[in-house]
Amino acid sequence: MDSFSTVIRTASHEQHVEAETSTFMSDLLGGRLGVDAYARYTEQLWFVYEALESHAERLAADPVAGPFVRPELYRLAALERDLAHLRGPRWRAGVTALPATRAYADRVRECAETWPAGYIAHHYTRYLGDLSGGQIIRDRAEKTWGFEKKGDGVRFYVFEGITNPAAFKRAYRELLDGVRADELEKQRIVGECKKAFALNTAVFRALGEEFPLSA
Ligand code: HEM
Repeated sequence: MDSFSTVIRTASHEQHVEAETSTFMSDLLGGRLGVDAYARYTEQLWFVYEALESHAERLAADPVAGPFVRPELYRLAALERDLAHLRGPRWRAGVTALPATRAYADRVRECAETWPAGYIAHHYTRYLGDLSGGQIIRDRAEKTWGFEKKGDGVRFYVFEGITNPAAFKRAYRELLDGVRADELEKQRIVGECKKAFALNTAVFRALGEEFPLSA
């Protein structure tokens, strides 16, 4: 039987490809978008991580979600530095969530408040992705818009507290394999993970509509 980390990875594979090849991501990675689109995307991430991390301390004491909560993953402070760089010191006054982002953040918050196992699905979908494909996005962003390497603008993608991402991801998969949930609950987590990917894709779709290429 496949380990849970393999099950969750396999189950979300198709949606991963969909997210990766979405018009917005392709345009972003292809260097075809302006820095404004990147800033708008970063704003959306801020709402998502606000939902993910505002309950983290309480969840750290939860027997199911607790082992996943690791301060070295926290991204909110890094996002805030990036936004101050991208939008200026008064960025908070202008930041707005797209309806798709609002729906995503609401769902994360709902899980954080009422269903710790479901929260794991959102945790996995974001942080493991940031540690993986996020590095490709960082590289592109640095090259396209000239941010200082690992500096302001791309700090979201820089995990200062994780020196060996491959080892961290291995340990994370072991945590998933040992998750304290029965088979039915594991299936529900997989379902929530698919939902998390769909919520991400919806945000990309909305961003794609906001930043269509003129070509
Ligand atoms: C252009 C965008 C993206 C690229 C280029 C990309 C690329 C990658 C790569 C290369 C890996 C494999 C890393 C490894 O095996 O260690 C990976 C893993 C992952 N990505 Fe992405 N990704 C992108 C977007 C996303 C998005 C939007 C999400 C979800 C929000 C996501 C979630 C994940 C997750 C959860 C994993 C870990 C899979 C596992 O090992 O269980 N990725 N990504």
